[in-house]
Amino acid sequence: MPERFTVLLMAAGRGTRMRSALPKVLHPVCGRSMVEWVIEAARGAGAGEVICITRPDDGVAEGLPDAVTVAEQREGEGTGAAILAAREQAPASGTIVVLSGDHPLVSKDLIERLVQTHEDADAGATLLTTEELDPSGYGRIVRAADGSVDRIVETKHAEGLSDEELAIREVNIGAYAFEAADLWPALEQVGEERGERYLTGVFPALTEAGRPVVAHVTTDVRSAMGVNSRADLMAVEAMAQREVLDRLAEAGVTFLAPASTRVEAGVEIGADTTVEGGVTLRGATSIGAGCEIGPATTITDSTLGDGVRALHSFIVDAEVQAEATLGPFAYLRPGARIGPGAKIGTFVEVKNSNIGAGTKVPHLSYIGDADVGEHSNIGAGNITANYDGRDKHRTTIGRGVRTSVDTSFVAPVSVGDDAYTGAGSVITEDVPDGALGIARSRQTNVEGYAQRDKEQPPG
Ligand code: UD1
Ligand code: CA
Repeated sequence: MPERFTVLLMAAGRGTRMRSALPKVLHPVCGRSMVEWVIEAARGAGAGEVICITRPDDGVAEGLPDAVTVAEQREGEGTGAAILAAREQAPASGTIVVLSGDHPLVSKDLIERLVQTHEDADAGATLLTTEELDPSGYGRIVRAADGSVDRIVETKHAEGLSDEELAIREVNIGAYAFEAADLWPALEQVGEERGERYLTGVFPALTEAGRPVVAHVTTDVRSAMGVNSRADLMAVEAMAQREVLDRLAEAGVTFLAPASTRVEAGVEIGADTTVEGGVTLRGATSIGAGCEIGPATTITDSTLGDGVRALHSFIVDAEVQAEATLGPFAYLRPGARIGPGAKIGTFVEVKNSNIGAGTKVPHLSYIGDADVGEHSNIGAGNITANYDGRDKHRTTIGRGVRTSVDTSFVAPVSVGDDAYTGAGSVITEDVPDGALGIARSRQTNVEGYAQRDKEQPPG
């Protein structure tokens, strides 16, 4: 096990090719920002302190997990300027691992191996390289005759580079281990190129100082992939997404149309659940075993118990207990809590409400700020009028209630256990247990109306 090392995480790049108001490293991959992925890998590899380099007020610091130290890059451009910005907070000796915030899928195993290789070789610097990527835009590794690393040629700007240099396939993937005592003096010697100070400029200085530079070649494409553009982001997203699906599939989940399914990294799904096409599962969502999800269903930050069916539904911040059925075309909004075996049917919206076990709301209803007991049946087209234009009020509906079609509940109002409502009623007063609440004007029939209408002279 290597010693605990300090991580300097470079996250202050301008990322101009992203063409985004959002800092590059905050762009999400499977729902988690790139920089969070890197921090997780660093911690998994046994990092001690993690120092994240950000720009003042760029919003990156706010999104970081606890216990990550922030160093602000207030001046200078380039990866060398980024590392210099952390100098005060970083150790003067011992192992420093430098990671790039735009390599979200760097693995903890690879970071561990990097540190191990570095410490075994007692090197001044160890860097990770690969020959598995399209090398365009990456720094190319120029090897000396004896095979050691001579220098790195940056190829972001191709002018002035030799064909020989451009033919090199081995690239720097931007993850390094340094002996701090060697890094700092070497970095001082690096000048600016095109207004940037390149961290990769330190290698000739290290070699000159007689400190070995070791390259660890990896075939781990996942770790190697960097994100400079939205096209790169799509490639990384696709790779990470497939891994999330594969991991869940391994745990017993069936994906019938994986190409049209998005599952974010933090989502949990139980065995024997089937996920159809067009499904998006986001955030802190947890789905039980034996569920049927989709087609065309979006679930965000919600918990579904075992055996739930959700067809063509949109579910946000809700809790659905075992064996409940949703949709087609149900909308559960924040605070919807659906009891076991309940049914929320077609074109039904539920918000901030408790729906009791076995209760059915099958068709065309809006249930907001309501508490509905067990085994009640809400007729088609029932509406809770929960808002009086100023405040929200609750509707309480008891156990075993049968409401008829087109009932409105003008909250605050309550309907007792085993009560009924009449079709088309506007319920403004409480209905006692077992009563029928009916609130509509009586029908009048005008006899002979059609005949009289015909006999009327035209005009
Ligand atoms: C860098 C390497 C290149 C390597 C590639 C791997 C240098 C000079 N080049 O190039 O050899 O092949 O990564 O992906 O290091 N950053 C800051 N402050 C800055 C500039 C950048 O913190 O002023 C951060 C960025 O947020 C990013 C990382 O450093 O996470 C790399 O910066 P980027 O500009 O993307 O470097 P590349 O041109 O990709
Ligand atoms: Ca980059």
